[in-house]
Amino acid sequence: MKPNSYSISQRFLHWAVALLVFFNLLLPDGMNAWHRLIRHGQTPTAAEVSSANVHAYVGIAILLLAIVRLFLRWQTGVPAEPEGQPLVLHVGAKIVHLQLYALIFLMPVSGIVAYYFVIDAAGSIHADIMKAVLWTVIAAHALGALVQHFYFRTNVLRRMTVG
Ligand code: HEM
Ligand code: HEM
Repeated sequence: MKPNSYSISQRFLHWAVALLVFFNLLLPDGMNAWHRLIRHGQTPTAAEVSSANVHAYVGIAILLLAIVRLFLRWQTGVPAEPEGQPLVLHVGAKIVHLQLYALIFLMPVSGIVAYYFVIDAAGSIHADIMKAVLWTVIAAHALGALVQHFYFRTNVLRRMTVG
């Protein structure tokens, strides 16, 4: 039997991770400044390292919470696909969710490799390619949720908010 809604913990984790992801996407300046100094062979001050660490720790928290989310998903399950919308939206939503899960693992892992092992190629993949892919997938995800809610009038937004 599938549940009617996401559990409170699943909903809390979804929105907490979304907030942390937006934080790192919109405010990466401390980390970028650290990276610039290292690239130019300079030594960052303690304050500059702390500011880069905020980005790193938020990213690592996202990775750990992603593991908890997958565990909960496996344990509690997820609601059935909403009725009353075309098959293409079901398939599209599944693909987008899979991509989001992949990105909340790959983004922190590539960041860890760039930051702690100072590997430039990982930094470029993280900061250029993955950042752009993540923004695109988030936009498709949010747009899809709004179309499902307002056009097809399904309960997807409700079951991820008030339950
Ligand atoms: C989902 C989690 C994460 C997101 C959304 C994220 C996002 C970003 C963004 C937007 C940038 C700036 C890109 C630009 O220049 O415009 C960046 C740079 C960077 N991030 Fe993250 N990050 C995440 C996790 C991490 C983690 C866990 C670490 C390290 C422990 C990390 C290390 C770095 C480094 C080293 C850079 C500079 C790379 C370069 O410019 O080549 N990030 N990140
Ligand atoms: C603008 C912000 C966002 C909105 C409006 C939103 C909305 C939703 C809704 C309504 C669902 C439930 C879909 C369903 O029941 O079929 C969902 C699921 C999901 N969201 Fe978001 N979301 C947002 C941001 C994010 C972000 C930033 C991430 C991660 C990077 C994310 C990752 C996911 C994942 C992985 C699922 C699937 C959960 C599962 O079935 O295990 N969302 N989202």
